[in-house]
Amino acid sequence: MNKTVEVLPDQPALVARALELILSKLETAIEQRGRFTIALSGGSTPKPLYEAMSSLREATPTAGYAYANQKLPWDKIHIFWGDERYVPPDHPDSNELMTRRAWLDHVDIPAANIHPVPTLEANPELAAAKYEQQLKEFFNSSGVEFPSLDVVLLGMGDDAHTASLFPHTEALKVRDRLVTVGNKDGNPRISFTYPFINSARSVIFLVAGANKRPALAQVFAPVADDFTYPSRLIRPQGELWWLLDAAAGLELQH
Ligand code: 6PG
Repeated sequence: MNKTVEVLPDQPALVARALELILSKLETAIEQRGRFTIALSGGSTPKPLYEAMSSLREATPTAGYAYANQKLPWDKIHIFWGDERYVPPDHPDSNELMTRRAWLDHVDIPAANIHPVPTLEANPELAAAKYEQQLKEFFNSSGVEFPSLDVVLLGMGDDAHTASLFPHTEALKVRDRLVTVGNKDGNPRISFTYPFINSARSVIFLVAGANKRPALAQVFAPVADDFTYPSRLIRPQGELWWLLDAAAGLELQH
């Protein structure tokens, strides 16, 4: 695991850095494999990042990229979600709805490249199983236990949960599947499992706010319980990036 921790002065700088990092992963993925696959997180922190992505509709202003001042190859970008609330896609709590409104409705990613969690299935278990099947078919991953997305974007709660892997829940014990059912305060959620997250080429945490500091201290501690602080379970074979704003990362600044 190749771990990088960056503390940015504020949330706008955090978003700018995340955008830059994602664009660099996008460029490499398309150069090497002809497509870019990313799983998105929900919550409030990534929303300004998604809004920034929508501003790239016509051109990539960030110099130094193959696509600088050109339109991104939207048709080569595939969107997944690392977790989703078990609600219809038009529900105010839907991560898909938030992402479409902030980004996907404003750019030319083909509908076929957007792979939402099938939350209209009759129950969360069926939704998780169907999403897993869709992922396996997309990656044509016969024989490969955990296919690798290029990027999995994660947030972290102030209880150190990530995706919908909450402390001391059964979802943390699922190691033989890509997708499982999580639960927050009795509300079912669909979530990547931590082994599937760990198969990504790059995992990027976006964490902001002083309220995350205590959880970060435990996640970064040499010794602490993984089931109490689930973000500790995220130890990808590839790259692990922690992008923090100063409010969250105060104690971690070197
Ligand atoms: C979700 C997210 C969740 C989120 C954390 C942090 O569906 O809510 O995927 O894991 O990343 O709860 O949320 P904030 O960014 O709002 O603090």
